[in-house]
Amino acid sequence: MQDDSSSFTFDLPRRNDIPMKEKLEEIRQHAESFAIENTAQVEQFRLQFLSKKGELNDLFELFKTVPNASKKEMGQKLNELKQFIQGKWESAQVHFETEEKGANKGSIDLTLTPESSFTGSRHPLSIIENEIVSIFSKLGFVYSEGPEIEDDWHNFSALNFPPNHPARDMQDTFFISEDIALRTHTSSVQVRLMESQKLPIRAIMPGRVYRNEAISARANCFFHQVEGIYIDEKVSFADLKQTLFYFVQELFGNDIKVRFRPSYFPFTEPSAEMDISCLLCKGEGCNVCKYTGWLEILGCGMIDPNVLTANGIDAEKYSGFAFGMGIERIAMLKFGVKDLRTYFSNDIRFLGQFESL
Ligand code: PHE
Repeated sequence: MQDDSSSFTFDLPRRNDIPMKEKLEEIRQHAESFAIENTAQVEQFRLQFLSKKGELNDLFELFKTVPNASKKEMGQKLNELKQFIQGKWESAQVHFETEEKGANKGSIDLTLTPESSFTGSRHPLSIIENEIVSIFSKLGFVYSEGPEIEDDWHNFSALNFPPNHPARDMQDTFFISEDIALRTHTSSVQVRLMESQKLPIRAIMPGRVYRNEAISARANCFFHQVEGIYIDEKVSFADLKQTLFYFVQELFGNDIKVRFRPSYFPFTEPSAEMDISCLLCKGEGCNVCKYTGWLEILGCGMIDPNVLTANGIDAEKYSGFAFGMGIERIAMLKFGVKDLRTYFSNDIRFLGQFESL
């Protein structure tokens, strides 16, 4: 017993010094030869060497018993080993993580919520234009277009504008030369059809028009119109009224009311402006309809016999009606747009709101 205990006290410094050195070497060899070949082995490596119950921790426990004389040397060795093990584990981790991601690239997880994709949308003016054209096409009106740069004849003279009519004024019209201008209305397309088509003519003609106006929330130097004409034998004002009444019911719903007010256009006689009952207050009176209960939406009338004659049509035999409306105004009423300029500002926050239409 005596011997045993003395050998124990004698052995103590040796056991805590030499075994530390050996243990360091042994663990280094373990760590070096540990082959990490997959993610599971990355974790095994961590458990074996770096976890609380891992080999490195055992060494740190052992290090506490190292005599002061060799603490510095052993401490250094221990730190080196720790860095080596830590480094091997970290680089294996990075390696297998990226490899795993790569391997998953091709597989699709069908349970994931789909990423919302960006889809384009039609411009609100195109939406309204298409709607107007499709309503009239149900009545047999044929789609037609004309040029935006027009001569005096098609924009004014053939439409019975007297030589000194104020619409010809530089203030309203963008002239390119004395005879050529940007069209001020789509009525010029009426003329192009009358001179080129066989009768009867029933056409719907959308397009961009230009007027020299100061730009504001309510006016722009260009805007869009849809023109319509119907020329045949015995076309009457009753046909015009019924056609337009059908149109607004299709566009705004069956509750809509209409009224016609006498007006003046050089190319129609008689002429009228058509109002619809206010969409917002249903005729009660509000600030949109300026407390009248009515909203003006288009100009119309029977084609003046002078216009038919000027375009080579027998005015004794044929009669016709024409109408023209602004698309911006109708789109403003339908979508509640308050400032005309938003149509042309290309702001995706505005345009994106029409995605589902
Ligand atoms: N061209 C007219 C305008 O610009 C509208 C209109 C078209 C009126 C056809 C009557 C007939 O205001």
